[in-house]
Amino acid sequence: MNTKKPKVAVVILAAGMGTRMNSDLPKVLHPLLGKPMVEYIFDAVRDICEDPPLVVVGNCAELVMETLGDKACYVLQEPQLGTAHAVQCAREVLRGKSDIVLVANSDFPLITAETYALLVKTHQENNSKLTLSTVVSDESRGFGRILRDSTGRIIGIVEEKAASPEQKKITEFNSNPYCFDAEWLWGALDQVEKSEVGEYYLTDLVEIAANSGQPVGSIEIEDHQESIGINNRVHLAEATKVIQQRINRKWMLEGVTMIDPDKVFIDDTVTLGKDTVLYPEVYLRGATSVGSGCQLGPSVMLENTTVGDRCKLIYAVLESAKLENDVDMGPFGHLRRGAHLDDHVHMGNFGEIKNSYLAPGVKMGHFSYIGDAHVGKNVNIGAGTITCNFDGEGKFTTEIGEDAFIGSDTMLVAPVKIGKGAKTGAGAVVTHDVPDGTTVVGVPAKELSIKKEGEQK
Ligand code: UD1
Ligand code: MG
Repeated sequence: MNTKKPKVAVVILAAGMGTRMNSDLPKVLHPLLGKPMVEYIFDAVRDICEDPPLVVVGNCAELVMETLGDKACYVLQEPQLGTAHAVQCAREVLRGKSDIVLVANSDFPLITAETYALLVKTHQENNSKLTLSTVVSDESRGFGRILRDSTGRIIGIVEEKAASPEQKKITEFNSNPYCFDAEWLWGALDQVEKSEVGEYYLTDLVEIAANSGQPVGSIEIEDHQESIGINNRVHLAEATKVIQQRINRKWMLEGVTMIDPDKVFIDDTVTLGKDTVLYPEVYLRGATSVGSGCQLGPSVMLENTTVGDRCKLIYAVLESAKLENDVDMGPFGHLRRGAHLDDHVHMGNFGEIKNSYLAPGVKMGHFSYIGDAHVGKNVNIGAGTITCNFDGEGKFTTEIGEDAFIGSDTMLVAPVKIGKGAKTGAGAVVTHDVPDGTTVVGVPAKELSIKKEGEQK
């Protein structure tokens, strides 16, 4: 057994058309819970290769490279003449740079880090020139059949299209990924001949190895979910479900309660704190993080949003927003870009907040709109209050000083400032700044002069 840690180069084949997706977006960029499918492979191979994977691009190459950026290196395959030809393109970049070459199809995002590690380990222990990953199943999914001789030795792979009726009955399939001895691979690729459909098949290397007396190794992928390859949207949905189950399971083991894990949808990019409870129909997307002891749902969607500890959200949509600790919100609240609610803010029914800061202790109980505003500590925003921040041409800001009391149905016509401890009467339309401690009423709002007892009217 060879004990030296070999250098592994990873090649991901992503130049194919992905025609059956029926999409303008190249298949590898189709997102699965917030991440392009191919990025799941990057994550899974992270521990086995030092250098970023080499992605063979072709179809929509520019867009693929632009989207994945420096997470990978790239080589162009133009035209696309099959999987062996794709690896030949990689040869120009990788020859002499590694001991082992691991080749993966870009549309298998569910293969786990453990399986990649097992493949490399088995390959190295057996000192094979080539090691396959197989799956034994009643369902062919269009995969190539593994051909073995009477002693059980692997002697070839026949693609489904080319298989005889007898071969079609074989239930051992070629899943991918593959491990190759690098120098053997780079030489053997020249022996691959064009298939009947005009493509150069990587899988022909199995017969080439077997014919030259080289042992072909294999691992069996026992969890069939791992070998779900994505060719169409039905497969995409299947894979999404599996990834969702993995993500949810991970968070449950980390201390998150899910009332019904089948109805909770969490992107791979999200983080959660322990003792947070997720009710059904919760969607957590993008760069979202939720602290501990929170209660989310039913029906909450958070996108690129940060939530502190012990917050409670019911029927709410939050986009690019930030909540500090102990905030409660809903039912039926909408926070838009730049909404920032500090500790203990209470936001009740039917509220909307955009690009505004609400200081600790602000209360906004019923159907209000706050936009482009700074609201000081402990302000009470009465039912139906609206910051009129848009005059049809420009957006203007509203400032409300701490401890102010905004009466029900107040219209704050921006730009406007309400002083500390000031009050507005119900239905006031405030068009001018209100000094500290002053009460204004009416339309347009004017200072209320309260007559002292005994004064003449
Ligand atoms: C391939 C295997 C098949 C296996 C199946 C599932 C071959 C010949 N067959 O079939 O035995 O069961 O995968 O693992 O390899 N690609 C390129 N350049 C090309 C052609 C394809 O980069 O010129 C990429 C595709 O984007 C895809 C991968 O290679 O990610 C596999 O190609 P695809 O055409 O999907 O092969 P299958 O027919 O699925
Ligand atoms: Mg395929």
